[in-house]
Parts: sequence; C-alpha cells; structure tokens
Amino acid sequence: MPTLATTVDGLSLPNPFIIGSGPPGTNLNVIAKAFKEGWGAVIAKTVSLDASKVINVSPRYAKLYAADREEVIGWENIELISDRKFDIWLDEFKKCKDMFPKGVLIASIMEEYSRDAWIEIVERCQDVGVDAFELNFSCPHGLPERKMGAAMGQDPDVLEEVCGWVMSAAKKPVWAKMTPNVTHIEDPSRAALKAGCQGVSAINTIRSVMGVNLETLRPEPTVEGYTTPGGYSSKAVKPIALRMVMEIAQMIKTEFPDRTLSGLGGVETGGDAAQFILLGADTVQVCTGVMKFGYEHVKPMCDELLDWMAKKNFETLADFKGASLPYFTTHADLVKRQAERKAAQKSAAAAASEKKTVGADSDWSGDSFVQQSNSLARG
Ligand SMILES: Cc1cc2nc3c(=O)[nH]c(=O)nc-3n(C[C@H](O)[C@H](O)[C@H](O)COP(=O)(O)O)c2cc1C
Repeated sequence: MPTLATTVDGLSLPNPFIIGSGPPGTNLNVIAKAFKEGWGAVIAKTVSLDASKVINVSPRYAKLYAADREEVIGWENIELISDRKFDIWLDEFKKCKDMFPKGVLIASIMEEYSRDAWIEIVERCQDVGVDAFELNFSCPHGLPERKMGAAMGQDPDVLEEVCGWVMSAAKKPVWAKMTPNVTHIEDPSRAALKAGCQGVSAINTIRSVMGVNLETLRPEPTVEGYTTPGGYSSKAVKPIALRMVMEIAQMIKTEFPDRTLSGLGGVETGGDAAQFILLGADTVQVCTGVMKFGYEHVKPMCDELLDWMAKKNFETLADFKGASLPYFTTHADLVKRQAERKAAQKSAAAAASEKKTVGADSDWSGDSFVQQSNSLARG
C-alpha cells in the first residue's frame, strides 16, 4: 500500500496537499477546519506588522467560466494581504498550535524593504510556535506600490538581500514564494536559495485583466467604475505553473540538490498533484481550489493520488519526484530525434522489403515464406 506521508525540510506532513496562502487560511476558524479535514499543512494568509495600511475593496474577485457557464476555469483577485491586526494573528497562531500540536502551520509574511521589520516579523511569529515561513515576494497588485510583494520578487538582488535578513533570524525552515510575472523564474529562485532559504514555492498569481464589459466599456472587476490589474489563478494557470515549476526544479537539481520546491497554480485533483511532483515538486498547494470545492476536497485528491501511485507501483512520493524532468529538451533536439527515428524506420522498411524478396536460395525464410513466394510469381 503506498503512502502519501512525507518529510520536507524536517516538517512531517501526512500528505503533500498544503493550503496555499489566501482566503482558505485567513483566520483560526478556517485553519482549524483545514487541519480537521486532513490537509497536509496550512500556509496562513499573508500577514504584515502593520495591517492598518491594508484596505480591501469589493468586489475583489472575478471568475472566468467554461463554455458550459458552470465550471470556473479562471479566477482574478485584487485582494491584498491580511487586513487583520498582527497581534490577533500571533494569538491565533499560538492557539492553533495548542489545538493541533502536530499540524504543520506555516506563516506567510511580507514586509517593506526594512531589515528591522523583516527580523521583527520572523522573531515574533516563531516565538508563538509557527513551524515554518513562506516569504511572500509575489503579490502582483496593490503592494508593489509600497515596493512590497512582486516588486521585491522581480528584483533578484533585493530578494537575495531580504532573504539574507530573514535567514539571519529564522530558526525554522523558510520557503520563498515566487511571482510568475518575470521572464526567467529561475533567477529570483536562485537568489533566494543562494541566501540560504530551504525552499521555493511557485507560483503566485499571474497579472491579469479579467475582461471588459461590452455594455459599459468598463474593465472588470469594476470598483466604482474603475479597476486595477489583478492576479489570475485556478485551473487555467496550471500549464504556466507546471512550466515554471519545471524550470525551477531543473535549476534546483543542478545547483541546490538538497533544497525543496512547493508547486502550485490550478491544482484541483490528485492527478494535478502527481504532475507537479513528476516535474520536481516536493509538495503541492491549493488555494482557489479550496474556494471552489471546500476543505473536504482534500480527501478525493488524496485518494486519487494514492490510486494512481498503486497503479504505477510507486510506494512513496520520492519514487516519482522529478521522474518526468529528463524528458524536456530543446526544439532543435526534437527535430534531430524525429529525423533519426524516420531514418531508422526507412532502413527497417528497406530491410524488411529486402527480406521479402529472394535473391539466392539461402534467402528463403520461414517467417516470410508466403510473401517471398509471391514476390517471385508473375504479376
Ligand atoms: C483570493 C486570493 C487571495 C490570495 N492571497 C494571497 C496571499 O495573501 N498571499 C500569497 O502568498 N498568495 C495569495 N494568493 C495566491 C495563491 O496562494 C496562489 O499562489 C495562486 O492563487 C495560485 O494557486 P491556485 O490556482 O491554487 O489558487 C491568493 C490567491 C487568491 C485567489
């Protein structure tokens, strides 16, 4: 019987399905629900020291439906990080660890470009018992105006410096969460790992505009007649997330083989999780999927992943982690491989047709006897 249990950076997880930072980890009530339903770990909604600067608007989500108008395939949000007071969060982190001592609780943190602020937020969170950190360098809207989130994550030099500050204070594992809104996601990922972070998470949301209302001509989601580009998530982003996870995994494999990778972006099924792990992820996170299907959804995802592992004779996640990475190559190499295969097929066909004709009596073969007889007959 295969197992989903895994140990990542010293954290023991019952399964690789982690609640991704966002609404599904936004207060103690919902975090407790996640642990009760059996999620492998929870990354709480991103917190900062001063929540008073965080002011959300409504509406702040917009959905993209499939042609059936039922299934949600894309989701844009212009939601900021948590608007709840840091002291309330510390109290809830502590209560959560008292309620679920074995539950892996990861604090997602974000600060401005200030060494003191980053060190303070790390120290105060670990003092109340969180098990690990995820550094949010990736929120695409709102906070870049304060040089936070994606504004930091898009600059590998700044990111390396900030990760260095965090690592000087952190006594718990640290993952740096990457923005996909860059050309080469390996560059900021490498910077975080160079600074000593244990792992990388990818991806956060993709900067997007959901659409334009053809009646009012206003872009959506519309707030008082206006909008701002938001972050795109859910099923539609999975192919982009898989590509970026693959690129980071290749880099980790060659440059930092002892570091870890948490993959996310559109994970909704056990099969999705298997694909992220086949491309090098140690764990997978789910955010929008929880908003679509609820916390109970972890069970069918675990069952599906286990069934697939049993079918493929994989005992542990390590048995197939990164197993599909060797099958990426350049386009030029694809062309070369195809030409080689065609040439090999041609010569096999030529050899086969030669076998079917009889030049000398020694050419007669038991396998092709009838064809050889026919080849010698008058047409
Ligand atoms: C409504 C909403 C709020 C989010 N808030 C945060 C956040 O506070 N911190 C963070 O790191 N990521 C945040 N994210 C990004 C998700 O954690 C995740 O990286 C992204 O949505 C892709 O995964 P998914 O398709 O499973 O949602 C948010 C996503 C959504 C949809």
